[in-house]
Amino acid sequence: MLAIIERFGPMLIDGALITLKITAISVTLAAMLALPLSLLRIQASKKLRWPVQMFISFFRGTPLIAQLFLLYYGTGQFRPVLMELGLWGFFRDPLNCALLTFTLNSAAYQTEILRGALQSVDRRSIEAGRAMGMPNLLLYRHIVLPLAYRTAFPALGNEAILMLKGGAVASVITVMDLMGQTRRAFSQSFDISLYLVAALMYLTISIVFVVLWRYAERYLNRHRIL
Ligand code: ARG
Repeated sequence: MLAIIERFGPMLIDGALITLKITAISVTLAAMLALPLSLLRIQASKKLRWPVQMFISFFRGTPLIAQLFLLYYGTGQFRPVLMELGLWGFFRDPLNCALLTFTLNSAAYQTEILRGALQSVDRRSIEAGRAMGMPNLLLYRHIVLPLAYRTAFPALGNEAILMLKGGAVASVITVMDLMGQTRRAFSQSFDISLYLVAALMYLTISIVFVVLWRYAERYLNRHRIL
């Protein structure tokens, strides 16, 4: 095992950095999408709600690997159109396809997490704000959203971890993330302990993340009385 780490360690570290980058970027972009989507999901008229609902159903109801293939290989079928639009190069890069797929997938999950949290905000807190004459924008900014995010926080951390591990499928479209590098190293050495090392690396990343997230959660809840 030591020899394996010596030989492939740098490759695996490179991969782990890509994995971190993919996860951080897609979960963050997804969070930015999820806020407006969740508000649409609960507030908007039926006509506006419907496309959001379709988006969520598709990305939650189909396998991540199928979504990835549809985007990566699917766009390969539309070469003339995409070239015309100047998008061909973008979609031929597997990393871009992974980032886009994971962002949309995580956005669907995060939208549902936020929707639940928004709907669980205590009526009385909203009424208190209204009674003080707060306009809707301020009410959301200072009461509804802070309370909803506090509720959603643990589930959002869980979502980031799911994305960290689910992201390993990017390796099947040749993205050289941690799993991609591990598979490459395995094909060169056929040493099964590589997968153990990779698993331990994923585990380390998620444990560090969980600890940090818990600190952040404690900070968010520092004034909490109920
Ligand atoms: N393995 C799951 C799948 O194939 C991962 C998806 C989870 N995605 C998420 N954003 N929580 O669908």
